Amino acid sequence: MNTPQPLTDMTRWSHAFAAEVLKAGDLAIDLTAGRGHDSLFLAQCVDSNSHGSVLAFDIQPEAVASTLERLENNHITATRITRPQQIEGPGVFLLTASHERLALFVPRPPKVIMANLGYLPGGDHTIATQAQSSLPAIKTALEELATGGRLIVVVYIGHDQGQEESQVIAAELQRLQPRDWHVIKMVPFICTQAPYLLVVEKRREKMSQRDLLLRS
Ligand SMILES: C[S@@+](CC[C@H](N)C(=O)[O-])C[C@H]1O[C@@H](n2cnc3c(N)ncnc32)[C@H](O)[C@@H]1O
Repeated sequence: MNTPQPLTDMTRWSHAFAAEVLKAGDLAIDLTAGRGHDSLFLAQCVDSNSHGSVLAFDIQPEAVASTLERLENNHITATRITRPQQIEGPGVFLLTASHERLALFVPRPPKVIMANLGYLPGGDHTIATQAQSSLPAIKTALEELATGGRLIVVVYIGHDQGQEESQVIAAELQRLQPRDWHVIKMVPFICTQAPYLLVVEKRREKMSQRDLLLRS
């Protein structure tokens, strides 16, 4: 029997919330590839070898190499890209770039956009996600997400700039309108510094001023 993941392990829940909406053929995006656990999971959900696509970002070449290795070890075809035009057909596309560049690379509305924030496990802990880049990436993610799609973020407040990052993301999500979005936060109750989870679901595209007037 597999050892169960701890109840408070938010990556476990991030995968459960992604699997609930993903199907073969979808596009999923990993904003922080890291060691490739999330990219591999997303690739399996969308059946990237035959049907769907995964686009994964990381600023560290070490992380992209590590993700590529994990995918290959699991018989998932993956390609490093540098230009949006290289995203063609099914597959996993890996980009050594900041997730702020998401808008340039997203080829169609993604069903899931995942971000596991913080630093690379087993890597340089001084290189971690930061508000100045994760906030623009999250704003773009909200715009690009497919209707019914989910933005899933594991927020790690234990690193140097984690508190600031957590606060700016919270402020951004608090501006969302309940008629257009569902948002939940899952927090370990007795470990206040542990990572927590945000899941944002797009209920429908934002209504234009004209649509709002027609409805009133
Ligand atoms: C906690 S790790 C991600 C774990 C990963 N999802 C996995 O499954 O192994 C966070 C990653 O975010 C990356 N990162 C930091 N700033 C970034 C940025 N602006 N754009 C993309 N990746 C970034 C780090 O290099 C690190 O690899």
